[in-house]
Amino acid sequence: MNEWISSSPSNTWKIAAEFFQTLELPAVIALHGNLGAGKTCFTQGLAQAAGVKEPVCSPTYTLISEYQGAVPFHHIDLYRLGGPEEAYDLGLDEYLETDGITVIEWAERAAELIPPDAVHVRLQRGDDEQIRTIQIIENPL
Ligand SMILES: Nc1ncnc2c1ncn2[C@@H]1O[C@H](COP(=O)(O)OP(=O)(O)OP(=O)(O)O)[C@@H](O)[C@H]1O
Ligand SMILES: [Mg+2]
Repeated sequence: MNEWISSSPSNTWKIAAEFFQTLELPAVIALHGNLGAGKTCFTQGLAQAAGVKEPVCSPTYTLISEYQGAVPFHHIDLYRLGGPEEAYDLGLDEYLETDGITVIEWAERAAELIPPDAVHVRLQRGDDEQIRTIQIIENPL
């Protein structure tokens, strides 16, 4: 399965958990989609599936959050990244080489750092307020 239709945030969590089961770890997941498309929601579902007990949120100033589940879980949100050189300063390349799972929102802001074997997922709003399409896509970077 490489395309799902989500009807609610909790459905997106469920889809993320299903997607998680298909991953071979270590894995880098690049999430694509506009503001409010559901990238963080999908990340929360992945984190829960990875055994993370703490709440995963969308921090305003932290670009990288680390959690420990059954495996290490990294949540990276590059929305506020100033430029590629800031990504190097943050040591982003090191996070992309670690074990476990690394999920990146707004990966296009550091396209040159995203490993070629990353799995790319696109989330898009549907016509209805709660509808989202979630697709595994070819590398768009
Ligand atoms: N089916 C759905 N799946 C996910 N989120 C949904 C769904 N239906 C409604 N929503 C709402 O859409 C919003 C998604 O927000 P979220 O923070 O996950 O988006 P995002 O893509 O991470 O945005 P940003 O680019 O700002 O980080 C939430 O308010 C959530 O309640
Ligand atoms: Mg987000």
